Amino acid sequence: MAVIGVIMAVPALISFYVLWVISMLLRPLFILSVGLLLWNFPSTVLKFKQVVNTLAYMFFTNDKKYKKLPEVDMEDFKKHERKTIIFVRHGESCWNDTFNAGERKKVDFIKGFIPGLILAAGTEVYLGLTGRVDSWFYDSPLSEYGIDQIERLAKFLKKPGATTSEQKDLAILNGTSSTSSVLISSNLRRAISTVAIGFRSRLAQNPTQKIVIHPSLQEISRNPDTLSITPVGKQVEASWIEKSNYPHVAGVLQEQCDMKYHIGNKSMSSNGGKRMAAFCDFAFTRDEAALVCGGHSLWFRSFFRQYLPEASKHTAKAKKMVNGGCVAFELMRAVKGGKGVYIIDESTIRVVYGGF
Ligand SMILES: *[C@@H]1O[C@H](CO)[C@@H](O)[C@H](O)[C@H]1NC(C)=O
Ligand SMILES: *[C@@H]1O[C@H](CO)[C@@H](O)[C@H](O)[C@H]1NC(C)=O
Ligand SMILES: *[C@@H]1O[C@H](CO)[C@@H](O)[C@H](O)[C@H]1NC(C)=O
Repeated sequence: MAVIGVIMAVPALISFYVLWVISMLLRPLFILSVGLLLWNFPSTVLKFKQVVNTLAYMFFTNDKKYKKLPEVDMEDFKKHERKTIIFVRHGESCWNDTFNAGERKKVDFIKGFIPGLILAAGTEVYLGLTGRVDSWFYDSPLSEYGIDQIERLAKFLKKPGATTSEQKDLAILNGTSSTSSVLISSNLRRAISTVAIGFRSRLAQNPTQKIVIHPSLQEISRNPDTLSITPVGKQVEASWIEKSNYPHVAGVLQEQCDMKYHIGNKSMSSNGGKRMAAFCDFAFTRDEAALVCGGHSLWFRSFFRQYLPEASKHTAKAKKMVNGGCVAFELMRAVKGGKGVYIIDESTIRVVYGGF
């Protein structure tokens, strides 16, 4: 998959810069472009750095190279703590709108590919020329379609649960349960917006509640859509799509995101294994009994592969969660040699919404 991702991404990246250059060669556009690039000099420099860093990251990262953890000894878990974890997968992003068929028919996807690429490149150029810290590709935001998927999740969360177990999970998700919970999100925009839109009733009813942005949840991949565009020490900014069509998102991003853990991008020395371990440690430092986590499909699947027993044949190991899907389970922690060891209690895995 990673290889396919890179093969797909390289021509796309190259072709959109080629398109940009072609459009610049048309003289009036060229003069206007140069003018705008100079006018927005700091953001021009930023875009240039982004391109260089992205290519460097793509070719040199070892994000997917980490060891499978050794099988835990269940004897060690005679005494253990538990947290309820609910994974919430983000809606479809602009990146996927361009590069993945998603729910579309293959034929429609192929027919729409070139127009889609032109739209993406055009938007990227427009955002670049108008000097915005925004992008179709880097830290790719939710697409219109992706926002729609999350609106459906928000609607589902308003319904009464069908079974007692579903009611319990819904109450945790909507923040009315006696089981305390915290909203957490990866530092990537599509995950943060998913939490902001999906849980907006909860956030509106509890104005002091924050979405805790945690870098351990950053997606495991080499592609530019998995690099964070938000500078350290700044609030996340709404994308151009959200600014024009979904104004309530900007308020949540500005007022209800706790950015204190946002230390920038995953570094070259980070990898999926390290971030998943960091997430487990972080989960058990929280006072809340449950963590509702906005995040990404490869990260979630990798987590199930890493922390379910070797023998487990659960679908979670094989399939990605669907966009907007919510899956709950209990994570167990024992202490061995002064260090936390973790395992997912397989019998507790349940689909709350969407599934795999
Ligand atoms: C989005 O694209 C990435 C590859 O860049 C892929 O790993 C991921 O599964 C895609 N998501 C969907 C919904 O197809
Ligand atoms: C939260 O979910 C529970 C369980 O489905 C439901 O009884 C309650 O009315 C919901 N509360 C809100 C504010 O949505
Ligand atoms: C992360 O990397 C991207 C791509 O190089 C860059 O645009 C972005 O500014 C970086 N983000 C942070 C928070 O440093």
